Amino acid sequence: MTSTLSKSLSSLNSVAMGDKKANLVLKNCNLISVYTRESIPKTEISILGDRVAYVGPDASHTVNQKTAVIDVKGKYVCPGFADPHTHIDQFVLPSEIAKKSLLCGVTSLFSDPIDIVSIAGYKGFQEFLKLGENLPIRIFQVVPGGLPVDRKFSNSKTLSLSQEKTAIKNSNVLGLGEVFSWTKVTLRDSKTMKSLAAMLDNGCIINGHTAGASGKKLNAYVSSGILSCHEPTNFDQVLERLRLGMWIMIREGSIRRDLKEIIPKILSHNTYLNRLMFCSDGLDPLDIIKYGHIDHCIREAIKLGLEPIDAITMASKNCFDYYNLGKDLGGIAPGKLADIIIFNDLKSVKPSKVFVGGKLVVSNGSIVAPIKKRVIPSWIKNTVKLKKFSSKDFEIISKKKKIMVNTIFMQTEIITKLGSVELETSDGKVLASNDKDVWKVAAFDRIHGTQNHVVGFLENFGGNIGGFASTWSFHENDLIVIGSNDFDMALAANTLRKTQGGLVVVKSGKIHASLPLQLAGIISTDPFKKVSSNFEKINNFIIDSGCKFSRPHLIPLFLPFLALPSIRILSRGIVDVKKRSYINPIN
Ligand SMILES: [Fe+2]
Repeated sequence: MTSTLSKSLSSLNSVAMGDKKANLVLKNCNLISVYTRESIPKTEISILGDRVAYVGPDASHTVNQKTAVIDVKGKYVCPGFADPHTHIDQFVLPSEIAKKSLLCGVTSLFSDPIDIVSIAGYKGFQEFLKLGENLPIRIFQVVPGGLPVDRKFSNSKTLSLSQEKTAIKNSNVLGLGEVFSWTKVTLRDSKTMKSLAAMLDNGCIINGHTAGASGKKLNAYVSSGILSCHEPTNFDQVLERLRLGMWIMIREGSIRRDLKEIIPKILSHNTYLNRLMFCSDGLDPLDIIKYGHIDHCIREAIKLGLEPIDAITMASKNCFDYYNLGKDLGGIAPGKLADIIIFNDLKSVKPSKVFVGGKLVVSNGSIVAPIKKRVIPSWIKNTVKLKKFSSKDFEIISKKKKIMVNTIFMQTEIITKLGSVELETSDGKVLASNDKDVWKVAAFDRIHGTQNHVVGFLENFGGNIGGFASTWSFHENDLIVIGSNDFDMALAANTLRKTQGGLVVVKSGKIHASLPLQLAGIISTDPFKKVSSNFEKINNFIIDSGCKFSRPHLIPLFLPFLALPSIRILSRGIVDVKKRSYINPIN
């Protein structure tokens, strides 16, 4: 999709001089220059192929009868936006996310396919790269940099060092993704250090993730060549990292929203903006509909007092400068790839037209570029390797009438702590208790086809459902089942076995909501609208049944996530993350 500048040198030069004519000229542009922090009215832009050849007050020397000339009528014209850290191996296919992003003016996505790699390894990485090719949006990738979080407990797949070295030979693979288990860096884990060295030797970038790191640990991390972080939640963390030479991606997405906290302090401290970007870190379908994408970050930052040109620069030029792509992308200038947005006003920042590589992809709020659906191989749609479930698979046996159990106590959808409660038994089986807000929770290894599984207890969930199952869980991808009774839990699990992945809610022997995720159990092959509707129904049903949290889908997603405190459930057992030991569900 992308040309190299060296191949176009002569022809671009000729158009700029008027010796050759442009394919497309945009005239009467109010050009937002990310290079000079000004908007320049009555600018004309000449494009040949996928690149800009001329920018100035009069492009008439580049026009003949074959040149398409569009009068922009004084509207704003700026470079396409980028999301410098996102996860697009979630919910919908890249072709579906491409449409939504382009409508928001986002022409480049920097994807970290950590979920697909954790399920399908290098083969999955290669397949996912293909899914992002030949779309009318630029998708850059990184090799996931955080897997596995803890080798003692984790089953997640990852790339070997030699696979990483092969992967970065692809020009769309820019380096290593968020190295989120940062203690592997400060403890100089052998494989991690070799990966970092390979990236540096090949001129690749390494994305960081330094939640909780400071002082000497942060210094050690930065000295290892990791130069960005999207984890700061306040200005002090931003400043400490900027002072150490890092770049900051201010996160505004479905996992966290940090703009409101950080932007006002950046303004009051008159902080240098050149190393600041916005990123989403992944968006769920409802958030894209409700907020938008990077366009939302620009609108919010402007509302918080940032100069519009600065917000646009953070959303474009700074991202490409960070990824060493500034010679090709990030601004509208001769030689640059023609990724261009046209919009009416700085309040809504709603693109009326979007060009990617000189081709019109959005016009009047609609996608006008063809988007082909790729054939997905069957192997990646068959990842739930589990035998048929029965109620027995969810039983916890005890001879006592009453028994003390350890629980995973939900503090938020994401953070847990160890709990303890007394439960009753019936016919030798320990029962969940709606009154005590204690539910059963189970994890099964669906990826490797082992019989590994564990059943425990979940406290403070609140939702009076029969069974809630999900195949999408960071980064173990175990089948997680939460529920009040063994029969409904088995039905929920069997439903996902049949659909080969997704989320499902069961109550009283009936399926009430389901979101099939057919591709690797994490991505739906359905259109965006259907996915967002199914996603909304799942969460609403659980919330309406009394769940204490507003985003219940995050609960099975984070329950096995070893990078967060404090009690996690994986198919190999229930883990105390800090003590790095297993816990028995019953005492
Ligand atoms: Fe991330």
